[in-house]
Amino acid sequence: MARHLITSAIPYINGIKHLGNLVGSQLPADLFARYQRARGNEVMFICATDEHGTPAELAAQKAGKPVAEYCAEMHDVQARIAQGFRLSFDHFGRSSSPQNRDLTQQFAKVLAENGLIREVSETQMYSKADGRFLPDRYIEGTCPNCGFEDARGDQCDNCTKQLDPVDLINPRSVISGSTDLEMRETKHLFLCQSQLKDVIAEWIDSKSDWPVLTTSIAKKWLNDGDGLQDRGITRDLSWGVPAQFDGAPWDGMEGKVFYVWFDAPIEYIAGTQEWADSTGGDWARWWRTDAGAQDVTYTQFMGKDNVPFHTLGFPATILGSKQPWKVVDYIKSFNYLNYDGGQFSTSRGRGVFMDQALELLPSDYWRWWLLSHAPESSDAEFTWDNFQVSTNKDLADVLGNFVSRITKFTRSKFGEALPEGGTWGAAEEALIADLNTRVREYERLMEAKEVRKAAMALRGIWVAGNEYLQSCAPWTVFKTDPEQAGAIARLALNLVRIYAILSAPFIPDAAKTMLDAMQTSDDSWPGEIGAALEGLPAGHAFITPEVLFRKITDEERDAWQMRFAGTRAE
Ligand code: MF3
Ligand code: ZN
Repeated sequence: MARHLITSAIPYINGIKHLGNLVGSQLPADLFARYQRARGNEVMFICATDEHGTPAELAAQKAGKPVAEYCAEMHDVQARIAQGFRLSFDHFGRSSSPQNRDLTQQFAKVLAENGLIREVSETQMYSKADGRFLPDRYIEGTCPNCGFEDARGDQCDNCTKQLDPVDLINPRSVISGSTDLEMRETKHLFLCQSQLKDVIAEWIDSKSDWPVLTTSIAKKWLNDGDGLQDRGITRDLSWGVPAQFDGAPWDGMEGKVFYVWFDAPIEYIAGTQEWADSTGGDWARWWRTDAGAQDVTYTQFMGKDNVPFHTLGFPATILGSKQPWKVVDYIKSFNYLNYDGGQFSTSRGRGVFMDQALELLPSDYWRWWLLSHAPESSDAEFTWDNFQVSTNKDLADVLGNFVSRITKFTRSKFGEALPEGGTWGAAEEALIADLNTRVREYERLMEAKEVRKAAMALRGIWVAGNEYLQSCAPWTVFKTDPEQAGAIARLALNLVRIYAILSAPFIPDAAKTMLDAMQTSDDSWPGEIGAALEGLPAGHAFITPEVLFRKITDEERDAWQMRFAGTRAE
């Protein structure tokens, strides 16, 4: 039994995420976790909310709440919505947890002991109107790299360049809008990433199987020299992990906290510790190569803007510690999902947000569309038209129709039990051979985390069953040879069970309905298909399920397109 550690980039706490966020990390990570569990492997799937830093402080301020209270509330909201999408985290943690505070401080301490932390006096933007320093997202301005006018102090959303607030042209305070800013001296801790450049370059070079998107971004940052400059890991903020060691402030760091991008990825580990503390489980066998983690396969999922932090920043922390931590084996990254001719926009409320999606349709509809259109080789675009067409075709016409046709036919001619008699002939042999090839290919694509191609392979498996049924036409055969019609129905009903198992990582609710309809709890992954098709014997009772997937009407499509074009009501 293999062991898979799987993490999804942890979403910022500041509000409900849109479908583009979902498909870029949490959803494909869930797909992979569900698949690995279905294959009988041991899985630890961790996600959390990213609660520190300026995004949290700004959102709390806007909501008029103390930041700790705001974060606690929003964590529960995000956890509930994640459940609505059936995201099967083993633990959904919080980066503001005591576990993460302790671990973050321990990492900083050992990095300092290894000579990788130095103090730097630097000038930072100070706002006289606001009476405070303005780190990161507290400043916006024009990107010096691409000219985008709303670049944030830490990163340009347009060209993904990591920035320093002092780089921005025409900077302004996000709190007050004030442009009355001046440079003031302040002292910070810097992580000497430059010393780790060779180690990290060698590590990235050794990863020949990573997606091109991941390695190209990693190498760009590495070679531009930008990515591995020494970097400030503290901030003049009050909300965050205090820059303390063994309970005492680092000299000169009183009142400062660690930078959010320093503590956030550490939460992958701390989240596993939170899981262990609440379940009595053992976190170290997932994370420490001196405690059993050497045979763990660790896969991370994230959007492309997160790649520099996971290929350079977090590895610098891990490798710089010189402690036996598990290092990521595979980084699966995604391009952006656009919305109907533009970008999803959290600030402008453009596009569909996770809570709204669940109000319109059950999660399987969204999971299927998003995963089957995952932005892998390029950016992808959500349009209502495409959503309607794919849903109606793939889910209603192909899968739903197959299940409904065969259960209804059998019920009307034989009653609700698998019919007896008849034999398999050439058509069945051909179907089995075809399905064997298709299922093995589906497995290969799922292992390879080729999300879109895996969805298409699964769809092909559904189509093969539909075509078999169509060409064998048991409703016609029944008139002359009821026994043979019964054999076809028996095979097709077994196929419903197999489809449930194969489809569960994509559409878990429908898969459960199908398995329940076949009145079996045998969800073991199908090996050779001929054998799997004999899983349910003649005489086994089934029930005819309700419609699995309904169609989206033209009226709904048009109404939804209108409704989500504009600004989200707060
Ligand atoms: N909150 C970040 C984002 O949404 C992702 C943090 S991933 C972590 O872009 F590794 F740093 F935790
Ligand atoms: Zn830019």
